[in-house]
Amino acid sequence: MQHANSRWSYLFRLLYLIGQLWPTSKASYVEDNYPASVIEDAHLTTLQLLSKYKYPGELHIVTTEDKYLLQVHRIARPGAKPVLLVHGLEDSSASWIIMGPHSGLGYYLFDAGYDVWMGNARGNRYSRAHVKLNPDTDKAFWSFSWHEIGVYDLPAMIDTVLNKTGYKKLSYFGHSQGTTTFFVMASSRPEYNSKVHVMNALAPAVFMEHVKTPLSGMAINLLKVIGDQYELTRHSYLFYNQCTRSAEAMRLCLFFAWKVIGKNVAELNMTMVPVIFGHFPAGANSKQGQHYLQVLQSNRFCAYNYGTTENQRIYGRATPPDYPLEKITAPVAVYYGQNDYLSTVEDVERLMKRLPNVVLKYKMNKKSNHIDMIWGIHVRSWIQPQILQVLQIWEAGGPQNGTNVTTEYTEQTSYTIETENPFTDTTAQTDATTDI
Ligand SMILES: *[C@@H]1O[C@H](CO)[C@@H](O)[C@H](O)[C@H]1NC(C)=O
Ligand SMILES: *[C@@H]1O[C@H](CO)[C@@H](O)[C@H](O)[C@H]1NC(C)=O
Ligand SMILES: *[C@@H]1O[C@H](CO)[C@@H](O)[C@H](O)[C@H]1NC(C)=O
Ligand SMILES: *[C@@H]1O[C@H](CO)[C@@H](O)[C@H](O)[C@H]1NC(C)=O
Repeated sequence: MQHANSRWSYLFRLLYLIGQLWPTSKASYVEDNYPASVIEDAHLTTLQLLSKYKYPGELHIVTTEDKYLLQVHRIARPGAKPVLLVHGLEDSSASWIIMGPHSGLGYYLFDAGYDVWMGNARGNRYSRAHVKLNPDTDKAFWSFSWHEIGVYDLPAMIDTVLNKTGYKKLSYFGHSQGTTTFFVMASSRPEYNSKVHVMNALAPAVFMEHVKTPLSGMAINLLKVIGDQYELTRHSYLFYNQCTRSAEAMRLCLFFAWKVIGKNVAELNMTMVPVIFGHFPAGANSKQGQHYLQVLQSNRFCAYNYGTTENQRIYGRATPPDYPLEKITAPVAVYYGQNDYLSTVEDVERLMKRLPNVVLKYKMNKKSNHIDMIWGIHVRSWIQPQILQVLQIWEAGGPQNGTNVTTEYTEQTSYTIETENPFTDTTAQTDATTDI
């Protein structure tokens, strides 16, 4: 009964959203309810945002070994120590700055004296390019999963940053898929471990046994239909337009978003929601989703499964090999949320047991979800000073004699919102593990 009810509730909400796709007269809801500057931010690119907020943005094009052309966006502080930040699935370099100079990690690290480089994985809006292949007409462009992002894109980005700055090492930040790809790289091409002072894993996505998002069942069926060589949600303003046309539409969009990442109203700046939908989703290949679903279903962190015959040809065995996590020798600092539906506490703790060199386990408060460590309202006072301290310690080669370094920390308090929030979801009492 519970199952049937929630299934109808999803279907109803989905139909409502689809109904909203039909064009109506130009909506003024967003203009009437959000600051002009927020609406502007929703429509600017990463480099335009940097320019608007008077930060020194630079564009660098990185060519991978297999000839993909990637945009890396730099907040340039020549001579300073470099950090490389890599986004999650369907996200982009903008993720590190969209919440604005008073909050974004990209700005924070620049202000703290770093030379900040923000990568874009192949296939998103900024890295839809190749020396020979045309993403609009060549199916072969869309043949990658996050495996190739880890094996080709990250090494190319790291080598470019080190080459352009003259440093021998950098510090790395990954969010979600940005951690998956790092672990693929550092296990498959272990020589890259020595180029990294410390890997900061924000909501790491490796094991997926305990994923709680009820939409994964729907994703499995959807990906079965569309296959693994299909551009998923190419960046456009479709989501922005649909989600900002009325208060009800906004509520529905947030309902679905929270079903995927875990709900935490207290850390989401409601004024900034249009900016999020202006930048997210930023584009990806369906094979990235497919590969995650294989990890989820096989309960192994392993290479892509092409089926027995192809596996034999590619891997010389019937099943795809596991990524050898024991080869990841770079120090890893892990930040994870207790209400994250994708990177659950159980799965992150399983990962930490397997990694040889975890230097910090930072468990965020009970309400924190998949994105709070980047977009949360309180990141500047809460987590960013901790991040900075970890960077400084590991850039200096690890804790020096006699220093007392925290290696395990659990946040005890979480914020609650005092006033009734217009977007509080009172109708959605569905069980988080209910499938659709
Ligand atoms: C960067 O790469 C170029 C071309 O390969 C090379 O000539 C140069 O020495 C490199 N610079 C540094 C700092 O490694
Ligand atoms: C929310 O975002 C608005 C617009 O950028 C900003 O003015 C405000 O300070 C933010 N609120 C919090 C609590 O950070
Ligand atoms: C202090 O550091 C030196 C060199 O880094 C090392 O040889 C020595 O064992 C350290 N002492 C302690 C007590 O850890
Ligand atoms: C390190 O700090 C913790 C917490 O502040 C304290 O409990 C512990 O005794 C300290 N250890 C040393 C060796 O100073």
